[in-house]
Amino acid sequence: MKNIVLIGFMGTGKTSTGRLLASRLGRTFIDIDKKVEEQVGMTITEIFARYGEEFFRRTEHNLIAEAAAAENAVIATGGGVVLSQDNMSLLRANGVIISLSASIGTIIERTGRRDTRPLLNRPDREQVIEKLLTERAGLYQDADLCLSTDECSPQQTVDKIIRFLRQGGL
Ligand code: S3P
Repeated sequence: MKNIVLIGFMGTGKTSTGRLLASRLGRTFIDIDKKVEEQVGMTITEIFARYGEEFFRRTEHNLIAEAAAAENAVIATGGGVVLSQDNMSLLRANGVIISLSASIGTIIERTGRRDTRPLLNRPDREQVIEKLLTERAGLYQDADLCLSTDECSPQQTVDKIIRFLRQGGL
C-alpha cells in the first residue's frame, strides 16, 4: 500500500498527527526531521548553526528518497520539504499527500512553545513566519487532501484522514 505523507508549515501538527495515524493504522512512522538528527548526530538547530541550511536540505533530500522507497509507512516531513520538486516527486510516486494547515495566529502560538526551529529563532519571528507562509502557500496546497488543524486535536485530524482514505483516497 501507498505511504501516507504529511506536509505543511511548521506548527501545523505533522509529527503528532503522523505518530497517532501510524499507530491507529498499525503502520511504521517515519519522522524526517528525526531521521536527519539521527543521521548527523546533532539537533536541527546545531546542524543549521554548524553546517548551514544547504547541508540540512541535502541531508533531508537523501532521507526523503530513502523514506519514499518504503511501503505502508506514515511519513511526517519537515515544513521545507515542499521547496524541492524532486522531494515532492519522490514522495508522490508512492504516496498520498495530506497537507495540514493552520492560521498564522495558531502557528505563531504553537511554534512559540519551543525554540527547536532555527528559521524562527530570531526577534522578527512573526514577520519571518508571515513571509515564509506567503512564499510557500501554493506549494502546500498541491496535495490529495488539505486539512486545517486550527480547531482540531490530532485525534480529530486522524479521524478525518482515515475517513478520506476509506472513501478511496488511497
Ligand atoms: C523547516 C521546518 C522544520 C525543520 C527545519 C526547517 C522549514 O520542521 O525541518 O527547522 O523550513 O519549514 P517542522 O515543520 O517539523 O517544524
